[in-house]
Order: sequence, then C-alpha cells, then structure tokens
Amino acid sequence: MSSCASLIFLFLFLFLRASAQDPTYLGYNCPDTATYSSRSTYFTNLRTVLSSLSSQNASYSTGFQNATAGEDPDMVNGLFLCRGDVSAEVCRNCVAFVVKDTLDRCPEEENVVLYYDQCMVRYSNRNILSTVNTEGSLVLKNTKNVTSNQKDRFRDLVLSTLNPAAVEAASSSRKFAVSKANWTAAQTLYGLVQCTPDLTREDCLSCLQQSINQLATDQSGARFVVPSCSSRYELYLFYNESATTKPPPPPEVSTPPRPG
Ligand SMILES: *[C@@H]1O[C@H](CO)[C@@H](O)[C@H](O)[C@H]1NC(C)=O
Ligand SMILES: *[C@@H]1O[C@H](CO)[C@@H](O)[C@H](O)[C@H]1NC(C)=O
Ligand SMILES: *[C@@H]1O[C@H](CO)[C@@H](O)[C@H](O)[C@H]1NC(C)=O
Ligand SMILES: *[C@@H]1O[C@H](CO)[C@@H](O)[C@H](O)[C@H]1NC(C)=O
Ligand SMILES: *[C@@H]1O[C@H](CO)[C@@H](O)[C@H](O)[C@H]1NC(C)=O
Repeated sequence: MSSCASLIFLFLFLFLRASAQDPTYLGYNCPDTATYSSRSTYFTNLRTVLSSLSSQNASYSTGFQNATAGEDPDMVNGLFLCRGDVSAEVCRNCVAFVVKDTLDRCPEEENVVLYYDQCMVRYSNRNILSTVNTEGSLVLKNTKNVTSNQKDRFRDLVLSTLNPAAVEAASSSRKFAVSKANWTAAQTLYGLVQCTPDLTREDCLSCLQQSINQLATDQSGARFVVPSCSSRYELYLFYNESATTKPPPPPEVSTPPRPG
C-alpha cells in the first residue's frame, strides 16, 4: 500500500471514530457491598430497567428519566441524567453507550453510578428518587496550575461565579445553570452546575453548595461530581453556550458605532 493510500485510510479511520461520538468516560462507583448473580431476579429486573432507560421513547429531550422494575427485595430503581446543554441525540447516544458499558464495568454490583461527560446512569436496590446522595464522589482536575500569586483571587472568582449559578439551578425546573466571569482581559471563567431534577430546591442547593466547596481551585479547571449533583469550572468554554437557556450575552468586544 502506498503511503498516500495509508494516509487516506488513517483519515477515514479517525473520521469514523470521531463520528461515532462515543461519550467521554469519567469514572464509576460500584461498591461490592451488595451483589447479584446473573441468574437472579435482580438481574432480570436490572435488564428491564436498563432497556427502559435506553428505549426509543425515553425522555432524551428533557435529559432525565427514571425507571423501576420488580418488588422488594429484588426491586431495581434506575435513572439517567444528561448534561443540561447536550442535544436529545447526544443524550440518547450516551445513555445507550453507558447501558451497554455498565455490565462490563460493574458486572455484579447492585448499587452503581457511572459518570460520563455527557450523561450519567445510576441504579440501585434502594429508592434513589427524590433523595440526596453525595456518596462516592468523583474529583477531576485540569492539569494546568493557576499562577501561584493569584490563587486567592482565583478561588474567590470561582466561588462567586458558581454560587449564584447554584441558586439559579436549584430554582429552575431542569436544575441546571451555567455562568461565566472575566478572569483576565483575555481569559473567561466558565462554570456549570446541575442536580438531578427530582430533587427539591433545598436539596439541590445543599448538594451543590457541598460540591462547590469541595472543588479544588489550584488548577485552571476542576469538577466535583456526586450522584445527586455536579459542579465544574474551566478557563475555556466546555459546554454548548447556544444550548443554554439564558439570553445570549452581549459580544465581548463591541465597537460602538461612530456618530455621523
Ligand atoms: C416505552 O414504550 C414501551 C412500550 O412500547 C414501554 O413498555 C416502556 O415503559 C416505555 N418506556 C418509557 C421510558 O416510557
Ligand atoms: C503545579 O503545582 C504543583 C504544586 O503546587 C507542582 O508540584 C507542579 O509541578 C505544578 N505544575 C505545573 C505544570 O506547573
Ligand atoms: C467581561 O469584560 C467585558 C469587557 O472587557 C465586558 O463587556 C463584560 O461584561 C465582562 N463580562 C462579565 C461577565 O463581567
Ligand atoms: C419516575 O417515573 C415514573 C414512571 O415513568 C413517573 O411517573 C414519575 O413522574 C417519574 N419521576 C420523576 C421524578 O421524574
Ligand atoms: C449547540 O446547541 C445548539 C442549540 O441547541 C445546536 O443547534 C448545536 O448543534 C449545538 N452544537 C453542538 C456542537 O452540539
């Protein structure tokens, strides 16, 4: 094969891989405190819940769905939550992918949370709806440091950007908000907070406040993710700004029209 042909194959390969849009894996939490066997009623119920969550009619446009199958002690409660700015199609792809992935990553555990960038899937033998859960946190950090003599000012900005977003998210029906602030003339800080929308305003706010307080701010970006809520900030735009419900912000640099 000529090198030109292999280059074309390489591009084709990369293109096909990119267009498959696999969601970005972040982490999981599946403690082995309660396990099931593959011949159990629990497993049958789990498969019912997973197929309901990934069915064509699941509510990908709202980004949240719960499903239940069976009865105690084999009852399975499951839900998915998609990040507030992703499209219904990205949400659907993500949930379908995670539903396939979960039995590889957590093949026997009854209480599972799988975190992806675009969505998360949870299931449990306990009732997980309308209950705050902050156990099994996932901490992620951007590797870029903040300049050492700016650390206090940076932390202040992160908190003063995310805390109002948490209040806004808790009061909204989708329990999701983004916010941004100027860090330097050239750099903008972007924040995103989200709860599962089954939580009350108070529970969502308290979950987000805990999450925000635990965020590391020595780096230029970080996330603190728990089953019920998540918070993240970065010095780059990491969400789809045009898919967030706020009115579009005024342009950063505007040249006022000259009179005459
Ligand atoms: C989708 O529809 C099927 C019947 O076609 C139903 O059994 C299932 O519960 C529905 N799933 C959801 C998430 O509404
Ligand atoms: C970031 O800061 C940590 C501790 O303050 C240091 O160990 C590390 O080398 C720094 N990394 C970079 C890329 O500057
Ligand atoms: C950021 O700075 C620009 C001009 O420098 C200003 O127009 C804009 O309102 C500022 N944004 C925020 C969120 O403060
Ligand atoms: C959970 O699912 C049930 C059945 O589909 C639905 O009636 C209920 O409203 C859902 N609860 C939430 C909080 O979405
Ligand atoms: C961002 O959101 C807008 C509005 O929902 C959508 O039209 C656009 O395709 C999205 N962009 C990306 C890269 O997902």
